[in-house]
Amino acid sequence: MNSRLPLRILFCSTALLSAAPVHAAERRDVNYDEAKVNMAPLPDPLVLNSGKPVTSSRAWTKQRRPEVLELFQANVYGRSPGKPKGMKFEITGLDHLALDGLATRKEITVWFTGKKDGPKMTILLYVPNGAKKPVPAFLGLNFYGNHTVDSDPGITLSTAWMRDNKDAGVVNGRATDKSRGFQTSRWQIEKVVRRGYATATIYYGDLEPDHADGWKTGLRAALSKDGANTLWKPDDWGAIGAWAWGLSRALDYLETDKDINAKQVAVHGHSRLGKTSLWAGASDERFAIVISNDSGEGGAALTRRDFGETTAIITKAFPHWFCPRYATYASNAPTLPVDQHELIALMAPRPVYIASATEDQWADPRGEFLSGKNAEPVYALFKKAGLGVADQPAADHPVGNFIGYHLRTGKHDITEFDWEQYLNFADRHFGKAKK
Ligand code: GCU
Repeated sequence: MNSRLPLRILFCSTALLSAAPVHAAERRDVNYDEAKVNMAPLPDPLVLNSGKPVTSSRAWTKQRRPEVLELFQANVYGRSPGKPKGMKFEITGLDHLALDGLATRKEITVWFTGKKDGPKMTILLYVPNGAKKPVPAFLGLNFYGNHTVDSDPGITLSTAWMRDNKDAGVVNGRATDKSRGFQTSRWQIEKVVRRGYATATIYYGDLEPDHADGWKTGLRAALSKDGANTLWKPDDWGAIGAWAWGLSRALDYLETDKDINAKQVAVHGHSRLGKTSLWAGASDERFAIVISNDSGEGGAALTRRDFGETTAIITKAFPHWFCPRYATYASNAPTLPVDQHELIALMAPRPVYIASATEDQWADPRGEFLSGKNAEPVYALFKKAGLGVADQPAADHPVGNFIGYHLRTGKHDITEFDWEQYLNFADRHFGKAKK
């Protein structure tokens, strides 16, 4: 299995979407041996900065949660602005008989500052026609444009910049018709709609192009008074912050759409966008369920575990994802005042789901499981059952109550199996299980 790992790194760092390549020496140094993991003790989520213990859900909510959120803002993802004034939504596409009549397709352009020459994003939304309204919804960012999530020819082809990729049909920085439906298997739109859920997505590059200088033509510059000349402070937001902010703005829209039950929106994401869904769920408590698919380092995986990708590697290859201060922990992750189990704990008492894949050792599946495990004491304060197992379950055996987990057989991807678990989890928590 490990022989495939360097390929994954190579693939991700050149062919897919990344900034700087991961160097050969770093690839050689990556640890994939569980016996060699020498993890420093994790910070205790239930101890206040003052050293006092947290013994009630009230003390968590009122005192400790704000402290932990602050630590993540100051050290990992940075501080994001709030909802902008003057934001406008415009329905720019509508078809009541999309997907052979199964769903209504809406395209909503969001003008963040209300100005038509200002920053914007386009939400693609499918609402099941057969279901009683309002319906619960899934919301997540996509990697290659809204037109890639299904082969529905009515989806507007993205005109935003994207990295060239022959397989994805992206040429000279722009999508072509060839990319329509490129990620259909990852989105399972029809399946989700048939289960009675609306499903919404946004191209993450609408918010910020994913490379070190991407912010200059993205949201962060557009919302900064110094624009592309901004000098970022150690705790200013990074790209993950900007992408997560976009998810919150999409939720602002969903709150205005009468077809949607905005109190039942599950935010989800894969890989770097799984890191993003976790940060969105942590920083915006309106998200009712939070799902992370193969999110790895800087996502669900414990930072202190030296297995697969490390802080040193991620801050070198993708410095723009995090706040500038995060890079100062590159070679001394144990000095970080937080670890990722506390990010999971920030979802409490809301249901959270963590998914891993057997061939995705780069993302440290065991470290992803353990962050859920170590978030359990916080869920226990709310009398919510967590994973319900003492150790990582065998592959393809989903577990958990308020903290869901599975290790899927296979590679770094989102598959029908993953969706099946997310739908069952949402059914259970949104009270649809027996209908
Ligand atoms: C790289 C990166 C990961 C990230 C992944 C992705 O592999 O090292 O941290 O999750 O890209 O987003 O595809």
